[in-house]
Formats: sequence, C-alpha cells, structure tokens
Amino acid sequence: MRSYPGRLLRFVRYRILGLPVDPATLHSEMLTPAIRELAIREAARVANRFFADFFGDKYGDKCEGRAGELDGIVADFFRVFEERPIPSNAGGSGFENLFWLYVTGRLLQPELIVESGVWRGQTSWVLRQACPLAEFHAFDVDLSNRKYSDTSIQYHEQDWSGHDFGNLDGRRALAFFDDHVSHMRRIEEARARGFGTLIFDDNLPVYHIFQETDTIVPTVDMLFDDALSDLFSEGEEIEWIHANLSYRVRVDLPAWRAARSRVRSYANFPLVDKLANNFATKARYGGPTKIALVTLL
Ligand SMILES: C[S@@+](CC[C@H](N)C(=O)[O-])C[C@H]1O[C@@H](n2cnc3c(N)ncnc32)[C@H](O)[C@@H]1O
Repeated sequence: MRSYPGRLLRFVRYRILGLPVDPATLHSEMLTPAIRELAIREAARVANRFFADFFGDKYGDKCEGRAGELDGIVADFFRVFEERPIPSNAGGSGFENLFWLYVTGRLLQPELIVESGVWRGQTSWVLRQACPLAEFHAFDVDLSNRKYSDTSIQYHEQDWSGHDFGNLDGRRALAFFDDHVSHMRRIEEARARGFGTLIFDDNLPVYHIFQETDTIVPTVDMLFDDALSDLFSEGEEIEWIHANLSYRVRVDLPAWRAARSRVRSYANFPLVDKLANNFATKARYGGPTKIALVTLL
C-alpha cells in the first residue's frame, strides 16, 4: 500500500513540476500464479546445477542429504523475500545476494555464522531466516546504520579479526564477508581461525574495480586471474580512481599465491536476477551477481 504523502509528493513532482518519472517508483508485478511458479522452478534449476557442480552429486557431505529439499527451499525464499525488513536496501544487498545467502544457509545449516559488514542488517536478517538456530556473530565497524537487529545475534562493533572465537569447529561454520576489506586478507584470517566455508560479496574482476570499489583488492577473482601474475612483477602497483579518490595496491605475488593455495574450490554464484525480474519488479533486485562461494583446504 502506498502512503498518502508519498503519492502527493509524486503528484507534485511529476504532474505539477513535470520532472521525469523514476521507474523504480512504479509498481510492476507478474500476477499470473503459473508464471510466478515457473520463475521459482527455474531459480531452483539454476541453484541445483550450481550446488551439484560445486559440492558434487547430491551436494556432497557438507549438505548432509539436503539436496532433495532444494525445490522447497527456493520456494520458501520467494515467500521470505517478500517479508524483508528493508524493502529497498540502498548500499546493501538486493535479490541476488539474499537468494544465494538464504539457499546456501539452508543447505549447509552451519552451527556458527559470522557476518562481516552489517550495514542496515538485511543480510543478517536473511541468514537468520535461513539458519534460525545457528550461533550468529555480526561485525561492523559502525553499527549505527542498522534498521534490522535481532536479540539472537551477537553484534560486535569492531573488525572480526580482533574477536576470540575460542574452540571453534570451523567445519560447521559459515562466514560472509561484505565489508570492503581485501578478500586475500579475509581468506588468511578465516583460515587461521579454522573457517572452511566462506561467501564473499564484491568479487570483482580487476578490470571492474575502478568502477565500483575502493579497498577490497585483491578480490578472490584476482587471486585466480593468471593474466595478472603474468602482467606484473613483484612490487608493482595497480592504481585507479573510484568516486574521485585515488587508490593503489602493491602486487604482492607471493602473498597472492599463498592465499590462492589455501582455496579448495571457488565459484561465482550464477545470476538469478532475470528470473526475479520476471517474478516482480516492485522492488530493487540489484545488478549482476558478484557473490562467490569459497571453500578452504
Ligand atoms: C556494503 S555494506 C554491507 C551491506 C550488508 N551486508 C547488506 O548487504 O545489506 C559494508 C559495511 O561494511 C562495514 N565495514 C567497513 N569496514 C569494516 C570492517 N573492517 N569490518 C566489518 N565491517 C566493516 C561498513 O561500515 C558497512 O556497514
């Protein structure tokens, strides 16, 4: 239901002042149930293929026989998504990330979740929906932007690397990094703490970093980009401007190779946004996926 002040504001902006209409404010939605069902089935097919390729047939040991539940999990997500606490999550995750976090969380059922990069709390929320019983630690250097928080989540206003997890069984833990910190650094920290399964947002290839980001270099994609190690000698720098600010990162090839050697398997989650946009365009679904799943040795 649209609010009266919102409608009045739009009337003044578009009808009286004649400003161009922002398509994001217009409501578009597929109403035919059969087509909505089709989109959900297609999303399940994409997810099934991804997890079978990544973990193996029936999704291997990590999913503990839950592969058969995937269709139901995906259908649940489409319902859960409608209840998200932050309908339009500017600066944070849209449909793609939420989809993959939810489905992966439901399949893996980790006993411990770590999230680094909370922002308004939308991804904490979706992970909590997927894994209601997991011990959950959420880290952000500034927690004041939260619109969703949950008493079952332990929040820490600090970098995760300063936290002592005690005797952690990393095999049953899932860590999600969406904090604009170098993926290489996060891989090394995760390994030192015994974490085996990681999800990274903003896994950009090197030729996209100038458009979108600041401090996440090297990303996982860059660690696996052989062209880069051919192109650079030890100690050379990659330099770019993003949003008027200059950045440079020294290419530390031994450190890049070391971090890469910790990785057992790595893949970007595939796109499901076209399906989502067939389902409903009422909300902001985000652009192409940059979210990646990584397991460590
Ligand atoms: C892109 S936002 C996270 C979005 C959120 N995961 C979502 O999708 O809704 C990045 C967040 O990382 C936080 N951040 C920056 N440096 C950090 C660090 N060292 N550790 C944890 N969080 C950090 C920022 O304060 C910001 O809230």
